[in-house]
Amino acid sequence: MDAFNTTPSTLPTDRGRTSLRNLPALALDPLACIRAAWRRQGDLFWLDCLLTKVLVVVEPGAADHVLRTNQRNYQRSPLFSRPLRSVTGPTMFNTDGDEWLPRRRTVQPAFSRALVRTLAPKVVAAVDRQLAELPTEVEFESAPAMARMAMAMIGSTMFDAELTDDDLVEAFAHSRAVSERRVNVPVWLPSAVPSPENRRLARTRALIEGRIGAMIDRRAAGQERDDLLDRLMAAKDPETGCPFARATLIAEAALLVNAGHDTTAAALTCALHYIGSEPQWQARLRDEIDRELGGEAPSPEPLARCTLLRQVMRETLRLHPPAWVSVHRQAVADDRILGEHVPAGTTVLVATSLLHRHPRYWDRPNAFDPERFAPEREAERPRGVYFPFGMGRRRCIGEPLAWLELEAAVARVLQRYELEAPRGGLREKAGFTLEPTRAPLTLRPR
Ligand code: HEM
Repeated sequence: MDAFNTTPSTLPTDRGRTSLRNLPALALDPLACIRAAWRRQGDLFWLDCLLTKVLVVVEPGAADHVLRTNQRNYQRSPLFSRPLRSVTGPTMFNTDGDEWLPRRRTVQPAFSRALVRTLAPKVVAAVDRQLAELPTEVEFESAPAMARMAMAMIGSTMFDAELTDDDLVEAFAHSRAVSERRVNVPVWLPSAVPSPENRRLARTRALIEGRIGAMIDRRAAGQERDDLLDRLMAAKDPETGCPFARATLIAEAALLVNAGHDTTAAALTCALHYIGSEPQWQARLRDEIDRELGGEAPSPEPLARCTLLRQVMRETLRLHPPAWVSVHRQAVADDRILGEHVPAGTTVLVATSLLHRHPRYWDRPNAFDPERFAPEREAERPRGVYFPFGMGRRRCIGEPLAWLELEAAVARVLQRYELEAPRGGLREKAGFTLEPTRAPLTLRPR
């Protein structure tokens, strides 16, 4: 008997809702639309989106199955990777199989915890310079400020150059905007067609590639900086011994900037919001940071002892996982998920942000409570309910750097300032990432 019989699905497809009715809601607020469908339908359901049906997974075992235990059967969904590739060319993010593996293998050692630790002074210097620019004693919008801070941190760790006041920042922002547009509305002209969008994109790519190329040339001429770019230039595929070709090196360096700043910026903005609006947590955190760092610049060893800081950051990433659904996959062969037949070619969306607030697994799921990440409570949680950095072999390669940046930046802010933020004042938009759109904050020097 066929293990994957194709009896019609017993799951209703977003009952009574045609794809056309779903579309405006999906375009306007995709997270609210998916959340509403989840409330109507339960932990596994089909969402009808114009030309395709997407299987949405909000069940931990099924999430683990797709992302980890049966990961070989799930590749990046072309609905997502094709538009990205049309903008940046092939990178580790938008490739699969034999095209992906050598890229990942080659970059991976640069993100070992031991090497990332050595980047701490660059991170702290970038944070200090950005903090010096912030207003004090008045309320300001923290989201754009944290976006600049995140860009400065990735710039200084990647290129030993803060990328804040630069046309390169504008070029990265444009390339991201076009990627997002093409993911949402997957219609674009081939790059050979000189449409206004393609012409501007070609200029943007030329600027990014030219700048990174020039940095590579200066390094090759002997200007080493001990940053990530140096490490990528020296990197060799551990299986074949081959270094990156120049074009691949440029594309991967640009990808790391792209993948490594919006996410960090969002997490930082949300963390400062909670710390500013939860005085008791702020006081406990400050005590811990003063005790462990003693006024010294944040560095990996004392940061590792700041368990409360780690709990606060983990709780922030639970409530606001920046990569809220970047975990799209496509089934390679037929499969079965929770008894449901999943034909080859199905797009599967693992809904990180819904699992992170699923009332079956989280007590008071919408409340900010870092105690749930106390070390002794970690074992209570089933695998697949909490994965802000993904799971399996496509798990975030930049996670060690993200932790260093987040913890060093928050510790530095708390060493310098008292924070105040209106409770409930955080607003966000689910686009490419879960992006804060409003996060007022006041800093008062200590
Ligand atoms: C709070 C910060 C961050 C969060 C929440 C985050 C989250 C994620 C998630 C969930 C994935 C997996 C997507 C999937 O399974 O399809 C991912 C992949 C990735 N992340 Fe991050 N990320 C963060 C920071 C960074 C940083 C700092 C970098 C690099 C400097 C980075 C580079 C990447 C890359 C290159 C991938 C693709 C890996 C692959 O497909 O093999 N991320 N990230």
